[in-house]
Amino acid sequence: MSKIGFFYGSHTGKTESIASMIQAQLGTDVVDIHAILDVTVGDFADYQDLIIGVLTWNVGELSSDWEDFFPDLDDIDFQGKIVAYFVVGDQTGYPDRVHETIGILEEKIDVWADFSKLKVGTELALNSLACSGAENAGGSNIGGTTGSGKVPELGAAMMLFNVKIERAETAILKLPSKLADLPLLRPADATNAAQPRPVELSLQGMKWAIDGQPFEMTTATPQETVKLNAIEQWEIINKLNPGATMDAQGMAYPIHFHGVKFQVISRQVLPELAAGWQTV
Ligand SMILES: Cc1cc2nc3c(=O)[nH]c(=O)nc-3n(C[C@H](O)[C@H](O)[C@H](O)COP(=O)(O)O)c2cc1C
Repeated sequence: MSKIGFFYGSHTGKTESIASMIQAQLGTDVVDIHAILDVTVGDFADYQDLIIGVLTWNVGELSSDWEDFFPDLDDIDFQGKIVAYFVVGDQTGYPDRVHETIGILEEKIDVWADFSKLKVGTELALNSLACSGAENAGGSNIGGTTGSGKVPELGAAMMLFNVKIERAETAILKLPSKLADLPLLRPADATNAAQPRPVELSLQGMKWAIDGQPFEMTTATPQETVKLNAIEQWEIINKLNPGATMDAQGMAYPIHFHGVKFQVISRQVLPELAAGWQTV
């Protein structure tokens, strides 16, 4: 039997030590571990079975080592390979965003699960089991807790997502060669092409606001909602907030989107922020 290839990313060492623990459990003759920083595309060809270890960083983003490797994933042939993922995150600081990194990798490594043998009505849940020994990763509660209120105890069991079988499938399904198709959008096709929707980000007191309203994690205002399957143009205006308590110098807020595909049409950088932009 060929060995399992375990490819992980890690910033502060936790995912790396978990990779070593899993290798110790399964045996060094069963699993090879590789830091994603040190591998090339060719290293994946040696394995039929893979474990991908990731951590969520920067409020629902990939760690920088996986981010660097991300474009190279296009050159790996995953056809027929069995891939298991595990993700490390901070469920207290970011209870809604622990597993988002997996979603990012799934754009390149398709996930295909066959539920056709399960009875209609069956419900399955992917649960993160309770664990001990977890420590707070610096106590930062940025992002995830804003507005959501309820935060699980560190190490508590939590449900990540569930699946309900709603109908029987009679067709014999074939694995498509790719799941995601991202056609280039044409600005002229936007329903509001003549009048893009302005979205203003600002800082009020200690809180960031979208169009003057505090950011809410679990709801979307009508101003943040787009009709299903519609294309819209948004003009995101990042206000400077000089003198604000949290932002005496004035800073652009790094907005990001979840659950929609988007395309940047153009960008204007304020002269006050140009030096920062040019050095990114
Ligand atoms: C700057 C920063 C951003 C983070 N962002 C997230 C996040 O969005 N979601 C999450 O679940 N955990 C987040 N975390 C927690 C890390 O995923 C967690 O500390 C993880 O154990 C780090 O793994 P590593 O030691 O392998 O680098 C963040 C941690 C830091 C320091």
